[in-house]
Amino acid sequence: MRIEFAPMEGITDDLYRRLHHKYFPGVDRYYTPFLSPAEGKVFSGKELREVLPENNEGIDLVPQLLTNNTRHFLAGSEILRNLGWREVNLNLGCPSGTVTAKAKGAGLIYPERRELLESFLDGIFSACRMDISVKIRLGKEDPEEFPALLELLNRYPVKTLILHPRVREDLYRKPVRMEWLFYAMEHSRAPLCLSGGIAVAADLERVFQENPRPEAVMLGRGLVADPALAGKLRGGGSADRMMLRDFCQEFFAETASRLNGPKPTMFRMKEIWTYLIRLFDHHERYWKALRKTTSLTEYQAIVDRIFRELPLRQDADVNWI
Ligand SMILES: Cc1cc2nc3c(=O)[nH]c(=O)nc-3n(C[C@H](O)[C@H](O)[C@H](O)COP(=O)(O)O)c2cc1C
Repeated sequence: MRIEFAPMEGITDDLYRRLHHKYFPGVDRYYTPFLSPAEGKVFSGKELREVLPENNEGIDLVPQLLTNNTRHFLAGSEILRNLGWREVNLNLGCPSGTVTAKAKGAGLIYPERRELLESFLDGIFSACRMDISVKIRLGKEDPEEFPALLELLNRYPVKTLILHPRVREDLYRKPVRMEWLFYAMEHSRAPLCLSGGIAVAADLERVFQENPRPEAVMLGRGLVADPALAGKLRGGGSADRMMLRDFCQEFFAETASRLNGPKPTMFRMKEIWTYLIRLFDHHERYWKALRKTTSLTEYQAIVDRIFRELPLRQDADVNWI
Protein backbone atom coordinates (compact mmCIF):
# COMPACT_ATOMS: atom_id res chain seq x y z
CA MET A 1 0.00 0.00 0.00
CA ARG A 2 1.36 3.39 -1.00
CA ILE A 3 1.88 5.91 1.81
CA GLU A 4 1.37 9.58 0.97
CA PHE A 5 1.85 12.85 2.83
CA ALA A 6 -1.33 14.94 2.75
CA PRO A 7 -1.26 18.49 1.43
CA MET A 8 -1.44 20.89 4.36
CA GLU A 9 -1.62 24.59 3.68
CA GLY A 10 0.67 26.51 6.05
CA ILE A 11 2.66 23.37 6.93
CA THR A 12 3.88 21.12 4.12
CA ASP A 13 5.62 23.67 1.92
CA ASP A 14 8.54 22.66 -0.32
CA LEU A 15 11.13 23.22 2.45
CA TYR A 16 9.17 21.11 4.90
CA ARG A 17 8.68 18.33 2.34
CA ARG A 18 12.33 18.28 1.32
CA LEU A 19 13.56 18.09 4.90
CA HIS A 20 10.93 15.58 5.94
CA HIS A 21 12.02 13.35 3.05
CA LYS A 22 15.68 13.79 4.07
CA TYR A 23 15.22 12.95 7.77
CA PHE A 24 12.25 10.58 7.82
CA PRO A 25 12.02 8.12 4.94
CA GLY A 26 8.89 6.09 4.28
CA VAL A 27 6.62 8.45 2.33
CA ASP A 28 6.07 7.41 -1.28
CA ARG A 29 4.41 10.58 -2.50
CA TYR A 30 4.00 14.19 -1.39
CA TYR A 31 1.43 16.80 -2.46
CA THR A 32 1.72 20.56 -2.52
CA PRO A 33 -0.80 22.50 -0.46
CA PHE A 34 -3.38 23.94 -2.84
CA LEU A 35 -2.24 26.38 -5.50
CA SER A 36 -4.85 28.81 -6.85
CA PRO A 37 -4.27 29.47 -10.56
CA ALA A 38 -5.53 32.92 -11.56
CA GLU A 39 -6.07 35.16 -14.57
CA GLY A 40 -2.92 36.72 -16.07
CA LYS A 41 0.03 35.63 -13.94
CA VAL A 42 -1.21 32.08 -13.32
CA PHE A 43 0.85 31.33 -10.20
CA SER A 44 2.32 33.65 -7.59
CA GLY A 45 6.08 33.57 -6.98
CA LYS A 46 5.51 31.59 -3.79
CA GLU A 47 3.34 29.06 -5.62
CA LEU A 48 5.96 28.62 -8.33
CA ARG A 49 8.63 27.98 -5.71
CA GLU A 50 6.47 25.10 -4.43
CA VAL A 51 6.69 23.27 -7.73
CA LEU A 52 10.15 24.07 -9.12
CA PRO A 53 11.92 20.74 -9.71
CA GLU A 54 15.05 21.97 -7.88
CA ASN A 55 12.96 22.47 -4.73
CA ASN A 56 11.56 18.95 -4.92
CA GLU A 57 14.59 16.87 -5.82
CA GLY A 58 14.18 13.13 -5.37
CA ILE A 59 10.53 13.50 -4.36
CA ASP A 60 7.48 12.05 -6.08
CA LEU A 61 5.33 15.18 -6.06
CA VAL A 62 1.76 15.84 -7.11
CA PRO A 63 0.84 19.54 -7.27
CA GLN A 64 -2.68 20.41 -6.17
CA LEU A 65 -4.97 23.02 -7.77
CA LEU A 66 -7.94 24.77 -6.19
CA THR A 67 -10.22 26.38 -8.75
CA ASN A 68 -13.58 26.01 -10.48
CA ASN A 69 -12.44 27.73 -13.65
CA THR A 70 -11.57 25.43 -16.53
CA ARG A 71 -9.22 27.91 -18.22
CA HIS A 72 -7.33 28.57 -15.03
CA PHE A 73 -7.02 24.84 -14.30
CA LEU A 74 -5.71 24.15 -17.81
CA ALA A 75 -3.28 27.10 -17.75
CA GLY A 76 -1.95 25.92 -14.39
CA SER A 77 -1.61 22.33 -15.50
CA GLU A 78 0.32 23.36 -18.64
CA ILE A 79 2.86 25.17 -16.47
CA LEU A 80 3.13 22.12 -14.19
CA ARG A 81 3.52 19.83 -17.17
CA ASN A 82 6.29 22.00 -18.60
CA LEU A 83 8.07 21.76 -15.27
CA GLY A 84 8.03 17.98 -15.67
CA TRP A 85 5.18 16.91 -13.38
CA ARG A 86 2.89 14.21 -14.70
CA GLU A 87 -0.12 14.32 -12.42
CA VAL A 88 -2.16 17.17 -11.05
CA ASN A 89 -4.61 16.92 -8.14
CA LEU A 90 -7.94 18.70 -7.98
CA ASN A 91 -9.05 19.95 -4.55
CA LEU A 92 -12.75 19.28 -3.98
CA GLY A 93 -12.46 19.09 -0.21
CA CYS A 94 -11.33 22.39 1.32
CA PRO A 95 -14.06 23.32 3.85
CA SER A 96 -12.99 26.91 4.58
CA GLY A 97 -15.91 29.34 4.37
CA THR A 98 -14.07 31.82 2.16
CA VAL A 99 -13.27 29.01 -0.31
CA THR A 100 -16.70 27.32 -0.35
CA ALA A 101 -18.46 30.69 -0.73
CA LYS A 102 -16.66 31.02 -4.06
CA ALA A 103 -17.86 27.53 -5.11
CA LYS A 104 -14.35 26.12 -4.83
CA GLY A 105 -12.96 23.18 -2.85
CA ALA A 106 -15.80 21.42 -1.02
CA GLY A 107 -18.03 24.29 -2.21
CA LEU A 108 -17.96 22.82 -5.71
CA ILE A 109 -19.53 19.52 -4.61
CA TYR A 110 -22.61 21.12 -3.04
CA PRO A 111 -25.71 19.47 -4.60
CA GLU A 112 -27.03 22.83 -5.83
CA ARG A 113 -23.85 23.33 -7.88
CA ARG A 114 -23.88 20.02 -9.75
CA GLU A 115 -24.11 21.62 -13.20
CA LEU A 116 -21.13 23.83 -12.52
CA LEU A 117 -19.12 20.84 -11.30
CA GLU A 118 -20.10 18.76 -14.30
CA SER A 119 -19.18 21.37 -16.89
CA PHE A 120 -15.89 22.02 -15.07
CA LEU A 121 -15.02 18.30 -15.03
CA ASP A 122 -16.00 18.00 -18.72
CA GLY A 123 -13.69 20.91 -19.51
CA ILE A 124 -10.64 19.75 -17.62
CA PHE A 125 -10.82 16.05 -18.42
CA SER A 126 -11.29 16.67 -22.14
CA ALA A 127 -8.33 19.02 -22.50
CA CYS A 128 -5.79 18.51 -19.72
CA ARG A 129 -2.57 16.83 -20.86
CA MET A 130 -1.74 15.48 -17.40
CA ASP A 131 -3.21 12.71 -15.29
CA ILE A 132 -5.82 14.14 -12.92
CA SER A 133 -6.44 12.78 -9.43
CA VAL A 134 -9.25 14.14 -7.28
CA LYS A 135 -9.31 14.77 -3.53
CA ILE A 136 -12.86 14.94 -2.31
CA ARG A 137 -15.18 14.89 0.71
CA LEU A 138 -18.46 12.95 0.91
CA GLY A 139 -20.63 15.96 0.28
CA LYS A 140 -21.90 19.18 1.81
CA GLU A 141 -23.83 18.01 4.88
CA ASP A 142 -25.15 14.50 4.27
CA PRO A 143 -22.97 11.54 3.31
CA GLU A 144 -25.88 10.19 1.28
CA GLU A 145 -24.87 12.84 -1.27
CA PHE A 146 -21.82 10.75 -2.11
CA PRO A 147 -23.26 8.02 -4.40
CA ALA A 148 -24.44 10.64 -6.92
CA LEU A 149 -21.07 12.39 -6.75
CA LEU A 150 -19.26 9.13 -7.34
CA GLU A 151 -21.50 8.32 -10.27
CA LEU A 152 -20.51 11.62 -11.84
CA LEU A 153 -16.80 11.07 -11.17
CA ASN A 154 -16.99 7.58 -12.67
CA ARG A 155 -17.59 9.22 -16.06
CA TYR A 156 -14.04 10.56 -16.10
CA PRO A 157 -10.63 8.88 -16.17
CA VAL A 158 -9.74 9.90 -12.61
CA LYS A 159 -6.23 8.62 -11.88
CA THR A 160 -6.80 8.20 -8.14
CA LEU A 161 -9.74 9.17 -5.98
CA ILE A 162 -8.51 10.48 -2.64
CA LEU A 163 -11.42 10.30 -0.23
CA HIS A 164 -11.56 12.32 2.98
CA PRO A 165 -14.60 10.55 4.45
CA ARG A 166 -16.21 13.54 6.09
CA VAL A 167 -18.80 16.00 4.79
CA ARG A 168 -17.99 19.70 4.59
CA GLU A 169 -20.02 20.44 7.72
CA ASP A 170 -17.84 17.95 9.67
CA LEU A 171 -14.81 20.21 9.08
CA TYR A 172 -11.81 18.36 10.58
CA ARG A 173 -13.00 17.17 13.97
CA LYS A 174 -16.05 14.97 13.60
CA PRO A 175 -15.28 11.25 13.40
CA VAL A 176 -14.45 9.98 9.91
CA ARG A 177 -17.21 7.97 8.26
CA MET A 178 -15.00 5.05 7.32
CA GLU A 179 -17.86 2.93 5.93
CA TRP A 180 -17.92 5.27 2.94
CA LEU A 181 -14.35 4.38 2.02
CA PHE A 182 -15.46 0.78 1.53
CA TYR A 183 -18.51 1.93 -0.41
CA ALA A 184 -16.20 3.94 -2.67
CA MET A 185 -13.80 1.02 -3.12
CA GLU A 186 -16.72 -1.07 -4.30
CA HIS A 187 -18.24 1.50 -6.63
CA SER A 188 -15.44 3.68 -7.92
CA ARG A 189 -13.75 3.13 -11.27
CA ALA A 190 -10.68 4.88 -9.97
CA PRO A 191 -8.38 3.36 -7.33
CA LEU A 192 -8.89 4.76 -3.84
CA CYS A 193 -6.63 6.57 -1.41
CA LEU A 194 -7.90 7.19 2.13
CA SER A 195 -7.21 10.57 3.72
CA GLY A 196 -8.23 10.88 7.37
CA GLY A 197 -8.59 8.54 10.30
CA ILE A 198 -5.05 7.17 10.30
CA ALA A 199 -3.12 9.13 12.93
CA VAL A 200 -1.04 6.49 14.76
CA ALA A 201 0.40 3.20 13.52
CA ALA A 202 -2.22 1.06 15.29
CA ASP A 203 -5.03 2.79 13.35
CA LEU A 204 -3.96 1.04 10.17
CA GLU A 205 -4.37 -2.40 11.72
CA ARG A 206 -7.63 -1.43 13.41
CA VAL A 207 -9.25 -0.08 10.25
CA PHE A 208 -8.02 -2.72 7.81
CA GLN A 209 -7.93 -5.83 9.97
CA GLU A 210 -11.22 -7.04 8.57
CA ASN A 211 -11.55 -4.79 5.56
CA PRO A 212 -9.88 -4.57 2.17
CA ARG A 213 -7.03 -2.07 1.88
CA PRO A 214 -7.19 0.80 -0.58
CA GLU A 215 -4.33 1.38 -2.98
CA ALA A 216 -2.95 4.15 -0.78
CA VAL A 217 -3.33 5.91 2.54
CA MET A 218 -2.57 9.58 3.02
CA LEU A 219 -1.32 10.84 6.38
CA GLY A 220 -1.79 14.44 7.48
CA ARG A 221 -1.84 15.69 11.06
CA GLY A 222 -0.60 12.40 12.48
CA LEU A 223 2.51 12.60 10.32
CA VAL A 224 3.25 16.21 11.26
CA ALA A 225 2.84 15.22 14.93
CA ASP A 226 5.10 12.20 14.49
CA PRO A 227 7.36 12.65 11.46
CA ALA A 228 8.44 8.98 11.71
CA LEU A 229 4.86 7.68 11.36
CA ALA A 230 5.21 6.58 7.71
CA GLY A 231 8.35 4.61 8.59
CA LYS A 232 6.53 3.06 11.55
CA LEU A 233 3.73 1.86 9.26
CA ARG A 234 6.46 0.01 7.37
CA GLY A 235 7.78 -1.57 10.55
CA GLY A 236 10.42 1.08 11.29
CA GLY A 237 11.26 2.62 14.66
CA SER A 238 10.21 5.74 16.51
CA ALA A 239 11.56 9.21 15.90
CA ASP A 240 14.94 9.79 17.45
CA ARG A 241 15.28 12.91 19.62
CA MET A 242 18.47 14.14 17.93
CA MET A 243 17.05 13.63 14.50
CA LEU A 244 13.89 15.52 15.41
CA ARG A 245 15.97 18.32 16.74
CA ASP A 246 18.19 18.50 13.65
CA PHE A 247 15.10 18.44 11.45
CA CYS A 248 13.58 21.37 13.36
CA GLN A 249 16.83 23.33 13.41
CA GLU A 250 17.46 22.93 9.71
CA PHE A 251 13.86 23.82 8.92
CA PHE A 252 14.10 26.93 11.10
CA ALA A 253 17.38 28.05 9.52
CA GLU A 254 16.19 27.54 5.94
CA THR A 255 12.85 29.18 6.62
CA ALA A 256 14.58 32.14 8.26
CA SER A 257 16.83 32.64 5.26
CA ARG A 258 13.75 32.70 3.05
CA LEU A 259 11.31 34.76 5.10
CA ASN A 260 11.63 38.32 6.22
CA GLY A 261 12.97 38.25 9.78
CA PRO A 262 12.42 36.08 12.85
CA LYS A 263 8.72 36.87 13.44
CA PRO A 264 7.32 35.14 10.33
CA THR A 265 9.78 32.29 10.86
CA MET A 266 8.56 31.79 14.40
CA PHE A 267 5.01 31.90 13.15
CA ARG A 268 5.78 29.10 10.66
CA MET A 269 7.46 27.04 13.36
CA LYS A 270 4.49 27.42 15.69
CA GLU A 271 2.20 25.98 13.03
CA ILE A 272 4.36 22.87 13.03
CA TRP A 273 4.70 22.78 16.81
CA THR A 274 0.87 22.77 17.08
CA TYR A 275 1.14 19.12 16.04
CA LEU A 276 4.73 18.16 16.90
CA ILE A 277 4.32 19.11 20.57
CA ARG A 278 1.94 16.15 20.88
CA LEU A 279 4.86 13.76 20.53
CA PHE A 280 6.16 15.01 23.91
CA ASP A 281 4.70 14.00 27.26
CA HIS A 282 3.71 16.64 29.82
CA HIS A 283 3.96 19.40 27.25
CA GLU A 284 1.05 21.63 28.40
CA ARG A 285 3.04 24.39 30.16
CA TYR A 286 5.73 24.41 27.49
CA TRP A 287 3.17 24.65 24.69
CA LYS A 288 1.36 27.51 26.40
CA ALA A 289 4.63 29.46 26.68
CA LEU A 290 5.68 28.63 23.13
CA ARG A 291 2.37 29.72 21.70
CA LYS A 292 2.43 33.00 23.58
CA THR A 293 5.96 34.21 23.08
CA THR A 294 6.82 36.90 20.57
CA SER A 295 10.53 36.90 21.41
CA LEU A 296 12.90 34.83 19.32
CA THR A 297 15.32 34.30 22.24
CA GLU A 298 12.51 33.05 24.41
CA TYR A 299 11.19 30.85 21.62
CA GLN A 300 14.57 29.21 21.22
CA ALA A 301 14.95 28.71 24.97
CA ILE A 302 11.55 26.97 25.17
CA VAL A 303 12.34 24.72 22.22
CA ASP A 304 15.69 23.81 23.85
CA ARG A 305 13.88 22.88 27.04
CA ILE A 306 11.30 20.80 25.17
CA PHE A 307 14.06 18.74 23.58
CA ARG A 308 16.09 18.51 26.80
CA GLU A 309 13.39 17.93 29.39
CA LEU A 310 10.30 16.30 27.93
CA PRO A 311 10.04 12.54 27.43
CA LEU A 312 9.14 11.43 23.92
CA ARG A 313 5.95 9.43 23.62
CA GLN A 314 5.69 6.16 21.76
CA ASP A 315 2.79 7.59 19.74
CA ALA A 316 1.69 11.20 19.42
CA ASP A 317 -1.36 12.26 21.40
CA VAL A 318 -3.81 12.65 18.55
CA ASN A 319 -6.97 13.60 20.40
CA TRP A 320 -8.01 16.05 17.67
CA ILE A 321 -9.74 13.10 15.96
C1 LIG B 1 -3.86 22.81 8.63
C2 LIG B 1 -4.44 21.98 7.50
C3 LIG B 1 -4.20 22.36 6.20
C4 LIG B 1 -4.73 21.60 5.13
N1 LIG B 1 -4.48 21.99 3.84
C5 LIG B 1 -4.98 21.23 2.81
C6 LIG B 1 -4.71 21.57 1.43
O1 LIG B 1 -4.02 22.54 1.11
N2 LIG B 1 -5.25 20.77 0.48
C7 LIG B 1 -6.02 19.65 0.78
O2 LIG B 1 -6.48 18.95 -0.11
N3 LIG B 1 -6.26 19.32 2.06
C8 LIG B 1 -5.76 20.06 3.07
N4 LIG B 1 -5.99 19.66 4.37
C9 LIG B 1 -6.68 18.39 4.62
C10 LIG B 1 -5.66 17.25 4.75
O3 LIG B 1 -4.97 17.05 3.54
C11 LIG B 1 -6.35 15.93 5.16
O4 LIG B 1 -7.22 15.52 4.14
C12 LIG B 1 -7.12 16.05 6.48
O5 LIG B 1 -6.36 16.75 7.45
C13 LIG B 1 -7.50 14.66 7.04
O6 LIG B 1 -6.38 13.87 7.23
P1 LIG B 1 -5.61 13.71 8.66
O7 LIG B 1 -6.63 13.34 9.68
O8 LIG B 1 -4.59 12.62 8.34
O9 LIG B 1 -4.98 15.04 8.97
C14 LIG B 1 -5.49 20.43 5.41
C15 LIG B 1 -5.71 20.05 6.76
C16 LIG B 1 -5.20 20.81 7.79
C17 LIG B 1 -5.46 20.35 9.21
